Amino acid sequence: MILDATAGNRVIWRLKNPPNVIFLDVETRLPRKPDIYADNRLMPFRNEVFDMIIFDPPFSWGEEFGVYNRYVNEKRRIEESKGTKPFTYYGADKYKSRGELISAIYKTQVELSRVLKSDGVLMLKWGEVDIPLTNVLTVFQGWMEMMRLYIDDPSQTAGKTQTYWILLCKKNGGIKQTDLTNMLSAMASPPTALSDSPSCPQPHPTPRQHQLFEYQ
Ligand SMILES: C[S@@+](CC[C@H](N)C(=O)[O-])C[C@H]1O[C@@H](n2cnc3c(N)ncnc32)[C@H](O)[C@@H]1O
Repeated sequence: MILDATAGNRVIWRLKNPPNVIFLDVETRLPRKPDIYADNRLMPFRNEVFDMIIFDPPFSWGEEFGVYNRYVNEKRRIEESKGTKPFTYYGADKYKSRGELISAIYKTQVELSRVLKSDGVLMLKWGEVDIPLTNVLTVFQGWMEMMRLYIDDPSQTAGKTQTYWILLCKKNGGIKQTDLTNMLSAMASPPTALSDSPSCPQPHPTPRQHQLFEYQ
């Protein structure tokens, strides 16, 4: 099960209603309604229930970039009557200052860590509108960066700023060594009929074991 913890208008999603995704947002004016209205700093979920979480927080603070107010007042009426897609709502108006935004991201990542499974993945989207990525990543102390993707698609970036997708996993709560040993010994046991055959080489777990243990 996947959680989108900052669903907005789901502009980044090609499938707007995938069956295995829960869309959550705190904004009540969104034309494309979330499944759950909630603050992602305190969510109504049990511990460790999601395999993946998408986190696309506001990249800035203060006034919304103007798009949303125009949209709500006029474009909403026109676009919705034509059935065309909603604009991106960035949520910058939710936070008054840089400190407030950073503090919110800090609290959210604690909560995301609580609801993400131990071997789950967090996908963080960040655009360097006002805060460099390196500064934001200092908030994610309990996480390890697995992958960094640079977005070149202008429809997914705010103006010309660099935007990233960062894949994170939990530092200490990840796959445990005993789980891996069990998994590897299962992989290393060939079907009985084949194990007696001299022409069938036995699987050797060692190289993969090394690779996987790097995550510890
Ligand atoms: C950059 S937009 C997300 C855009 C979205 N990914 C899309 O495809 O349209 C950020 C979203 O985070 C939401 N948000 C901001 N703070 C939040 C909070 N504390 N809890 C839940 N949602 C929040 C905003 O309402 C806004 O919809």
